[in-house]
Amino acid sequence: MNWIALLIAVHVVTILLWIGGVAFVTMIIFPIIATTGDSLEQVLLFQRVEHRFARQARIYIALSGITGFWLLHLLGMDRILFTRQTIGVSIMLFAWFFYLLVLLFEKRIFKKLFGKPDRFDSAKVFKFLAAFHWVVLGISLLAVFAGVWQGHGGSL
Ligand code: HEM
Repeated sequence: MNWIALLIAVHVVTILLWIGGVAFVTMIIFPIIATTGDSLEQVLLFQRVEHRFARQARIYIALSGITGFWLLHLLGMDRILFTRQTIGVSIMLFAWFFYLLVLLFEKRIFKKLFGKPDRFDSAKVFKFLAAFHWVVLGISLLAVFAGVWQGHGGSL
């Protein structure tokens, strides 16, 4: 059994489900929310989608982290981490930690955004959230690019 090939396959399928979901929320769900007239409806739709996806994202972050760190070890890359040869891995690690931070502070962020119903401006909040998701998607796609580049001999 070629464990490295198996781990890379699991790593990539996990990333596919994870980042595919982020792209769907960013490019399909947010435009739907933006064209929904009623602000209560907007909040309910957002919360249902985000609540369901956040649960899955936790599994994807765990699985991509386990397979990623395991690969680092098996490929002997842990000894040359943060050098020019492993710049692709550094970008993947950055994206992964970024998601981890967002997930850890998710409750606090949502409380700040949705916590004060008397001063809640749904257009402003969803504009901010849509822009934030585009930034997150950009970082994710950069990490996918970096992963494939690293996996196929790319180095600076
Ligand atoms: C803890 C975080 C992560 C670690 C330690 C990690 C590590 C690795 C390693 C060591 C490889 C194999 C490289 C090689 O064969 O030379 C790999 C492949 C890959 N990673 Fe990650 N990764 C992590 C997170 C991510 C994230 C967040 C993404 C994308 C959003 C990603 C996308 C990919 C892709 C697309 C490959 C493809 C390899 C190929 O085409 O052969 N990884 N990763």
